[in-house]
Parts: sequence; C-alpha cells; structure tokens
Amino acid sequence: MKVGFVGWRGMVGSVLLERMLAEDDFKGLQPVFFTTSNVGGAAPDVGVSCPALEDAYNIDALCAQEVIISCQGGDYTKAVQAKLRATGWNGYWIDAASSLRMSDEAAIVLDPINRGVIDQSLNSGVKDFIGGNCTVSLMLMAVGGLFKEGLVEWGSAMTYQAASGSGAKNMRELIQQMGYLKEAVAEPLANPASSILDIDRQITAALNSDGYPKAQFGYPLAGSLLPFIDTQLANGQSREEWKAQCETNKILASKQDIPLDGICVRVGAMRCHSQGLTLKLNRNVPMDDIEAIIKAATPWSKWIDNHRDASLSALTPAAVTGGLAVPVGRVRKMNMGPEYLSAFTVGDQLLWGAAEPLRRMLAILRS
Ligand code: HSE
Repeated sequence: MKVGFVGWRGMVGSVLLERMLAEDDFKGLQPVFFTTSNVGGAAPDVGVSCPALEDAYNIDALCAQEVIISCQGGDYTKAVQAKLRATGWNGYWIDAASSLRMSDEAAIVLDPINRGVIDQSLNSGVKDFIGGNCTVSLMLMAVGGLFKEGLVEWGSAMTYQAASGSGAKNMRELIQQMGYLKEAVAEPLANPASSILDIDRQITAALNSDGYPKAQFGYPLAGSLLPFIDTQLANGQSREEWKAQCETNKILASKQDIPLDGICVRVGAMRCHSQGLTLKLNRNVPMDDIEAIIKAATPWSKWIDNHRDASLSALTPAAVTGGLAVPVGRVRKMNMGPEYLSAFTVGDQLLWGAAEPLRRMLAILRS
C-alpha cells in the first residue's frame, strides 16, 4: 500500500511514527514522506526503503498515494484536500486536524468505540477519516461504554487540558514559565526562615512582570490557569467546548443528540488532558454494573477504585503520560441523586487524543 505522510516531523506526526515503529506498522508499506521545507531531503529511517522527500504541495505526487495521513494541521488540509478530490483522487485521507471533522463526507475515527460506524462508512464509500478532538476521544475511551449502552441522558465535562494541546512551542513555554517563577524567588525559597507571604508577593509580581515568558500562551499558565481554549462562539462557548457534543454524537452516530457541555481549561500539565465528568444516567444503574461496563468498553479503559491512594497514584498526568491506558476513577453516585454519576479521567493527549486513532485507521484499511 502506498501511503503518504505529511506533517510527520511535528509533535503529533512524531508520536505517530514512534507508535508505527513500535507496532512494526511500516512492514509491507510503501511510505512516501512529504515536506513543506526540505524537498529532496532524506526520508526518516522507518526500516523500509523510502524515496527522497516529496513536496507536500505537489498534487500529482500526492495523488499517486492510496492513503495520505496528514498531521500537518488544518490550514494544510484546507489548502490541499479539496484540490486532491477535485482531480478525482479517490484515495483515503486520514487527518488529525479538525477542519473536515464535521463534514458529511467524513467520519471521525475512534475504532475501539466506533468500529461499527467506521465499517459502515467504508462500505458506503467514505474516504475521509478524521481523528476526533482530544478531550472527546479521551472521554469516550474512558466512559464510552456508558454511552454505548445508551445510559447517558446528558453529560458535563470540566477539563484540565495540557500544554501539548496548544503545540510544541507552548510545552516549551510552560517549562520556561515554571523556571522563571522559580528563579524569581530562588533566594528566599532557599531560606527556611523567609516569609511565605513575601515569596507569594514576589511570585505574583513575577507572574505579572514584562519578563514572564508568555509569547505563545499570551497569559501566565504556570502558577495560574487559562479558562478559555480556542476561539469564542456567539453563544459564549469556546470552540473546544462546542466540540464535545457535536463530535461525541457524530462518533457514536447517535440517533438523537445527547446534550454535552462544560468548561474547558488549560492547566500546567505537559501532555495529559484530565476531565471531571458529571453524567446524568437515564436510570439508577448499580455501581457494580457501572464498573463492569466501563472495564469492558475497551482494553485501554482502566478502572481505578475510588480510594484516595489509588486516585493520587494512578489517576494523574504524572502517572498516565506516555501510556495508552486511559484510567477512570472517582466514580461514585453524587448527592443530586442515584442517577448522577461523577468520574475523573486522564489520558495522554498525543496518543489516544491524536496519533493512535490515525495509526489504527491505517491498520483497518490494510486489514
Ligand atoms: N484542542 C485541543 C487542545 C488539542 O487545545 O488541547 C487538540 O485536540
């Protein structure tokens, strides 16, 4: 199979390549790597022979591929995908960006949850397969079982999203911000006799100083948080919040939309998104059944008992980062009544939130 890779050098693309190498996915493929900056350069070493780097805007070279996987971003998708289709190119377009997600011609891929929808789409001639928004995919990897059982009347996700969702430069800036704050109080911090209120005053001054590095985020993240992600919509939602309902229902091919809403917040984590969920179930489901449904949903949905130690050791970005497991914990019935369920989940934003559903879609096409 001839597969073109675009945007493979970026953060999501690099994670995709890492995962493909780990799973020996390049075996039997004829990969062609595209570039926007280094045409003719050497392709990365993926264990099979590859031609020199092709121009990512060369429509003929792109059209020679049976599958194109793009991690290049929405602007590239907008500039190129329609041109390819206009030439009559009938290959599969697999994309990490959001631009095509809600198109009627595209399916959103998260196969452990919606393999049936993917198969139906393939049978009906769909050619565009797009990875979902990271918070949506991670929520469904965690509690998708409850949705698939038809138990969720509505839901609310309060998110704690990592810097990686904004990009590689933002991850670097977060660390620079942390370092800037530490340096601002290094002296009194080293002195146990210094006043914590003085230290706090210096931290506050540093957060608001001109020197605080915030070229990417625009505002302090380390030592603070950012209660708005992506652009603003007319109804007061952020675009990130808007995606929850429309993408979840599209992934599940819901007959009737399940209302979902919440507040999306950027926090100072590196690459794991966390979410506090409130799910209103349509009946009083026993806790044992809830546990069984969540555990059975996917091999990666990992149940964490609602105990303090288990939550603090296994249900954090520090514990989850770099792994495919999506733990779900803090699951309990809420004071509002036995149909109201709370849950907390954490997942690696670059794996199930971005690269892994694309990698698996390619595997589905090859199977
Ligand atoms: N929009 C997400 C975020 C990342 O900003 O965290 C991509 O899904």
